[in-house]
Amino acid sequence: MPIVETIVVELADRSYEVQVGVGVLAEVGPAAAEVAPAGRAVIITDSNVRPLYAEPVSRSLVSAGLRVEVLDFPAGEEHKDLATYGDVINRLLGLSPPIDRATLIVALGGGVVGDLAGFVAATALRGLEFIIVPTTLLADVDASVGGKTAVDAPAGKNLIGAFHQPRAVVIDAAVLKTLPPAELINGLAECVKHAVIRDRSLLDFIERQAPALLSAEAEMLAKLIARNVAIKAAVVAGDEREAGERAHLNFGHTLGHAIEAAGGYGRVRHGQAVALGMVAACRIAAGRGLITADEERRVREVLSALSLPVRFADLPDLPAEACEPGRLREIMAHDKKARGGVVRFVLPVGLGRAAIFDDVTGQEVLSAIEALSG
Ligand SMILES: NC(=O)c1ccc[n+]([C@@H]2O[C@H](COP(=O)([O-])OP(=O)(O)OC[C@H]3O[C@@H](n4cnc5c(N)ncnc54)[C@H](O)[C@@H]3O)[C@@H](O)[C@H]2O)c1
Repeated sequence: MPIVETIVVELADRSYEVQVGVGVLAEVGPAAAEVAPAGRAVIITDSNVRPLYAEPVSRSLVSAGLRVEVLDFPAGEEHKDLATYGDVINRLLGLSPPIDRATLIVALGGGVVGDLAGFVAATALRGLEFIIVPTTLLADVDASVGGKTAVDAPAGKNLIGAFHQPRAVVIDAAVLKTLPPAELINGLAECVKHAVIRDRSLLDFIERQAPALLSAEAEMLAKLIARNVAIKAAVVAGDEREAGERAHLNFGHTLGHAIEAAGGYGRVRHGQAVALGMVAACRIAAGRGLITADEERRVREVLSALSLPVRFADLPDLPAEACEPGRLREIMAHDKKARGGVVRFVLPVGLGRAAIFDDVTGQEVLSAIEALSG
């Protein structure tokens, strides 16, 4: 199956195309050749993805007439840090002959690679062009659109970074067949998020196709990815720097981030924490009459059908600190997206729409967290 869909991320002179298909790694070369006038590309990838996909991507780049080098770093969020960034950028600058401003970076991997390689591209020689070839569902539907690049700091995740838009994104849903199932499920949480805040019919699709999606059927995943990229692209195009509407993408993340932080990063998966955060936000929304009890139940059922948690008890290994309401409220008040200690919640307003609320009371939050314990 060739390209299923091409979605344009509309950002004036920084607009770019996201191509989505099945078995389309061969399209990386032509996409790269258009934006690499000097004919040189450096693939940055991680130690898991390199043996799986660096070779077909290199072949495609070489066929398109590019000289190709590959740099990798150890897989895992713990390596999305300044030390690894320093190591990768120094190896990039040490290549012979030296790279120049016309060298293209190709970020090949999940969100960790996209963020780190993107930040390398944003900063090496004051900025190189880059393209993204995402290989996890999370990177496909979330990290590859929007131009946020970053590494983690001891003070918190993603605190050192830059906005730097890629010149193109090529998504091959077939590469998700090698992804561990838990990583696939992680990405599905963000798809439910997009559906709840923007597209009720996407929720119908996910509901109907849950078994096919969970078994990584490439064509179904490609359709899912295309719809999610279109949603994220529209939101980002309307608000590139997160001054307003882009904050809707934080649905489920206010409490989700707190659960991740309280449980210890790496011990709770992001998608699982966000799923619990979405359940809690829907509880608050239902309590305010913004969605019906049926709609609240429907979101929980879709999450369960995707093997995502809807109660703390669904995660037996969750540390007790991650469920402690007082601790969670304290973390939320210090979140980098809280304004002056006011916790802002994105709540669904009917399914398929959302709005930002900064008047959610401590009692509403507490009741929603308690509902997760029930
Ligand atoms: N920039 C953004 O807008 C944005 C948005 C969301 C998330 N993120 C970032 O993304 C990161 C998480 O990304 P992630 O969930 O993709 O994790 P990840 O990049 O760590 O990938 C998960 C694991 O899967 C492996 N892997 C990747 N592709 C594979 C494949 N096709 N087959 C087999 N194994 C494969 C990786 O090596 C890794 O071990 C976080 O650091 C987060 O902050 C960024």
